[in-house]
Amino acid sequence: MIPQSFIQDLLARVDIVDVVGRFVQLKKGGANYMGLCPFHNEKSPSFTVSPTKQFYHCFGCGAHGTSIGFLMEYSGLGYVEAIKELAQNAGMTVPEDESRVPSARRAEAQAKSLALSEAMSRASDFYRQQLRTAPQAIAYLQKRGLTGEIAARFAMGYAPAGWDSLRAAFPDYADPALVEAGLVIDRAAEEGGAPHKRYDRFRDRIMFPIRNTKGQVIAFGGRVMDTGEPKYLNSPETPLFQKGSELYGLFEARQAIREAGYVLVTEGYMDVVALAQLGFPQAVATLGTACTPVHVQKLLRQTDHVVFSFDGDAAGRRAARRALDACLVHAGDSKSMRFLFLPASHDPDSYVREHGAEAFEELVREATPLSQFLLSEVSAEGELHTAEGRARAQFHARPMLQAMPPSSLRLQLVRSLANLTQTTPAEIETLFELSKPVAVAPQRAAPPRAGSRSAPEGLEKKVIRLLIAQPVLAAEIDQASLEALAQVSPDSGELLSQLIAEARAMGAQANFAGLAERLRAAGPAFDALISVIAADTEYDVESARAELAGAVRQTRLKLLNAEMERLAAGTMTPDSHARYRQLMMEREELKQQAAAEAKLR
Ligand code: UTP
Ligand code: MN
Repeated sequence: MIPQSFIQDLLARVDIVDVVGRFVQLKKGGANYMGLCPFHNEKSPSFTVSPTKQFYHCFGCGAHGTSIGFLMEYSGLGYVEAIKELAQNAGMTVPEDESRVPSARRAEAQAKSLALSEAMSRASDFYRQQLRTAPQAIAYLQKRGLTGEIAARFAMGYAPAGWDSLRAAFPDYADPALVEAGLVIDRAAEEGGAPHKRYDRFRDRIMFPIRNTKGQVIAFGGRVMDTGEPKYLNSPETPLFQKGSELYGLFEARQAIREAGYVLVTEGYMDVVALAQLGFPQAVATLGTACTPVHVQKLLRQTDHVVFSFDGDAAGRRAARRALDACLVHAGDSKSMRFLFLPASHDPDSYVREHGAEAFEELVREATPLSQFLLSEVSAEGELHTAEGRARAQFHARPMLQAMPPSSLRLQLVRSLANLTQTTPAEIETLFELSKPVAVAPQRAAPPRAGSRSAPEGLEKKVIRLLIAQPVLAAEIDQASLEALAQVSPDSGELLSQLIAEARAMGAQANFAGLAERLRAAGPAFDALISVIAADTEYDVESARAELAGAVRQTRLKLLNAEMERLAAGTMTPDSHARYRQLMMEREELKQQAAAEAKLR
């Protein structure tokens, strides 16, 4: 392992403006530098580099990271290679013996994923070849209205009916890579000791290879031709394939998406293939899972306009709601996300076949914009003529608006919601802790007060955000406050203690970029926050400190009040009475502190 301390030193030594500037033409604009994003196609710059945060962020596609992350994404270097490259330019040497271990391990991992990838491509070739000599499979595809040309475009194939047909495709059917790739099932492994037997996962099925954006086959979906179960069998998750982040047909559709100016997201393999046949090659599909924010992010790297299509029934409506939630964090003024509801019992494939491409085109044109869908979801329970109904609408709207980054679109939604619920936009901003100036422009002349960008979540989330943005503050939080925070929200409590440990380990030179590197492996919870902070306007330690103190105090007040209420509701004993008085005193103290600090500001 490369010691974290070295990575910290390295990040302190190099300047991200130089690193990025070697590849991207940057211009100074306010506090930041701006340029054309190297990670997606754009004509006007939405890519920013912040010298203070030592972080880059693209307002167009959401790409973000440190100098290390930039080199990895831009040059396709591995983590260790990127660090070495940076170190070399900065005249630093990566501590040798320690770096050998991970590169050896990395080489091993690389060799493994190469082996899996080779197995998948070999299997795909085999299935494709089998399709040519399987009349019943060809007849099925014809019955579904597909031509050979389309089948070839999607590299469709056929898995023969035998138990171990893949034996013919691989020199060694016992190769563990076949199991790891999800092509072969090992009964011995599955049933703990039954007679050792291996067999093909996919038998007598039409095969849809799932390709990554480089065109490599990473998984399969296989459809039965009769009424067997399951209708579609999918590859398991493997080192090559996570279904929550892959989209079927994206590789094949990339060019068409650019030409059409939008991507159409459907729910099925067959929809994608059939739509391509019927004149909509810009379609992709989620893989039997709900749409995730990762899906949306991937789509937005290809285009600014996403149209989701759903069946007109209750299940479709639920799926649409999940997609809406997945879109919110990515919603912005330059993006459009729209929702198309098909009549019940139709999917895009059947709809186009019955009503024609024109009619479907019309549905796409008239698809419901995100804003409208959101407002209809919020008021779905009706009763807006009563105070309770209006309050409920606000209750449903709150987490959704909080999930959205500040933007003109959010502002518009706040206004609409205010109208709908007989409140004012300002009241909603306050009530939802959305808080003032909308940071539409990536850069701003004067640093805003901390309060102006306060976290759109609960108190503990706000604390987490402040600590990521200014990790030096982690050293200043005392144990009592930590416990209070963990008590309010056990979920965040865990994140919080992990965060504090990482931040404290960085010592006095703790900073945002360094912490982001440390949290690299810690997963989506942190990554989402990191990207929000990357997109945010600059903000100084002093205001963050004050805001943090305020949030901690509010949390403690909340707990105090809750306990006092509990005590007051029960029968008073001398003990509980004493406790009550103590809590009252603590509360007074906290309130005085708050007042004193308010005066200072
Ligand atoms: P549908 O049952 O709606 O199938 O499943 P479809 O796409 O319309 O396919 P055809 O027209 O009957 O051939 C939609 C998607 O849900 C997943 C698949 O990704 C499928 O494309 N699914 C469905 C499964 O993963 N397994 C199943 O058994 C069924
Ligand atoms: Mn269908």
